[in-house]
Amino acid sequence: MHGPSPRRPPMRAGSLRDGMTSRRDRMNHVVLTGDRPTGPLHLGHYFGSLANRVRLQDTYEMYVLIADYQVITDRDLPGSIQRNITELLLDYLAVGIDPAKVIVFQHSAIPELNQLLLPFLSLVSVAELSRNPTVKDEIAHSSQQAVSGLMYTYPVHQAADILFCKGTLVPVGRDQLPHVEVTRLVARRFNERYGEVFPLPEAMMGEQPLLKGLDGGKMSKSRGNAIALSATEDETAALIRKARTDSERLITFDETNRPEVANLLTLAGLCLGRAPRDIADEIGYGGAAALKRLVTEAVNEFLRPIRKRRAEHTEGDVRRILAEGNERARERAVITLGEVRDAMGF
Ligand code: TRP
Repeated sequence: MHGPSPRRPPMRAGSLRDGMTSRRDRMNHVVLTGDRPTGPLHLGHYFGSLANRVRLQDTYEMYVLIADYQVITDRDLPGSIQRNITELLLDYLAVGIDPAKVIVFQHSAIPELNQLLLPFLSLVSVAELSRNPTVKDEIAHSSQQAVSGLMYTYPVHQAADILFCKGTLVPVGRDQLPHVEVTRLVARRFNERYGEVFPLPEAMMGEQPLLKGLDGGKMSKSRGNAIALSATEDETAALIRKARTDSERLITFDETNRPEVANLLTLAGLCLGRAPRDIADEIGYGGAAALKRLVTEAVNEFLRPIRKRRAEHTEGDVRRILAEGNERARERAVITLGEVRDAMGF
């Protein structure tokens, strides 16, 4: 069982790199990470963070959050939220996140997170909230009528996500680093004002090369340039057929001058566990057609066991797993909120 974790001293600043074997790496970490349920996860998510999670779940106490309240930060309506939550959990199960090892839970089931938000908000200034680069970027791309208060404050709610379980390690993409910084700020100031309650968490970034979308732009579900983990063989083949390449017959791995070709080689390399350069050598003068054939086969082969595991789970499984995860996460949150209130003298 995952009881409350023992108090541990705050940790040094900085972020941890995948594969680094420092003393801290072998510490008793509590890992927390999560996703907004806005649509299917894709291969970029897999190589960027899901693979890390599957690896970490065997070693550490681990929480994975379905950040449903965070959906309404950059759009006015939650959309098909129940459907998206179910699909997200199926994605997790499909890639091998094991609910016997990991607590999967959702924002909206843990009211204590909202209670933690208020004292945490008192610890940061409006100026600090306004200069968060990820928030600025989201405002620039937002579909909202007006920028809401939640847009500026959700990083502090995210601090509650990480601190409620005394998380120490947060596997995330680069865009989330400012939020981990906010979390560290909140934890440090809380400890200074009210006494030592929280460890200072560290971000952990994947070591994998950044995968771009099939059109060469940022891989994103909304741009139609991503291969979803739930894509069928035919959908996968169609997406790769449309991928941008060039007319050079000799396939080479040249990230600067041929970024689209290099990206396809990187994708195949990740799926096959091979060096992109070797794959390029193998294709030689086969041109874009041979390249796409190889990539399609590699991706479909890679996704086969993931598709199979996905199909093994029912909606009933999903409901049961979430109910259980929510209950366990909530138990943990109640304990931390109690400590916070005690420390503050409420
Ligand atoms: N902001 C993250 C995203 O957009 C999701 C998220 C919410 C998260 N709370 C978190 C990630 C806590 C890591 C830790 O994908």
